[in-house]
Amino acid sequence: MNPLLALVDAIERFDRFDGVASSVSKAVGWAVQPQFVRNLLSGTPIGHPLHPIMTDLPIGAWSMSTVLDTIGGKASEPAADLLVAVGIATAIPTAASGLNDWSDTTGKARRVGTVHAVANSTALCLFTSSAVARATGSRSVGKALGLAGFGILMFGGFLGGHLSYSNAVNINKTAGRIGPKEWTPVLAESELADGEHRKVSAGKVTVLVYRTGSSILALDSVCSHMGGPLEEGKIDGGCVICPWHGSTFRLEDGGIVRGPASNRQPSYEARVNDGQIEVRRRRAAS
Ligand code: FES
Repeated sequence: MNPLLALVDAIERFDRFDGVASSVSKAVGWAVQPQFVRNLLSGTPIGHPLHPIMTDLPIGAWSMSTVLDTIGGKASEPAADLLVAVGIATAIPTAASGLNDWSDTTGKARRVGTVHAVANSTALCLFTSSAVARATGSRSVGKALGLAGFGILMFGGFLGGHLSYSNAVNINKTAGRIGPKEWTPVLAESELADGEHRKVSAGKVTVLVYRTGSSILALDSVCSHMGGPLEEGKIDGGCVICPWHGSTFRLEDGGIVRGPASNRQPSYEARVNDGQIEVRRRRAAS
């Protein structure tokens, strides 16, 4: 096996610090409880997880400072110093968004995420020490610390990619779940009382149907955040609250009221026809 993958495999199986990670995760979950903070760090307002966007800033800045340190020569020293400082400043909000995402993970993903965070924190410490060394006239020490930080940063980045593409953290779990194009009967009208909700099958997907008065509202039943079962969620104020991490979706259109979800929940048209509740994919607005 590729040695890097063997190392990741060992990290995924190393459970000795699960208890500590669980306590830290609870503390982070408490800190990001306010809706504004949770939505901001999750990327809810921009409809995309925030952390992968933020990582471009410190990785880009530190990559360029390393290039300038290595082949830039004397004239590029001020630019290299500036890039080291920019990387340090942007690493802080990047870490905050990553911690927010990590607090929702479990098992293998949480273990890989822990090492990812430790690696990136180490890189931050090394680049901070590098900045101090540069400011105090020890340029060669500053360069060496930056080079070490860059190596560790690359390892942290590799683990970040593994979290997304292998552990499927923060991947839209409703991507590819496409419901029926035509009206499809899913349940007898008499089986859904006012105020009740239920999970039903509609073609290749499962849908949460909810009745309020004479209206039927329908959303994909799999939470877009990490696949939580919305049919087990609480209905409150015209929204469904995911039982796993509390993402709150408007039943009317799948819009997100509260993260951590950043992808809207697919919503379906619903009607009663000949005693049957029917659903179909929403038509794109023309
Ligand atoms: S699975 Fe995380 S909020 Fe639904």
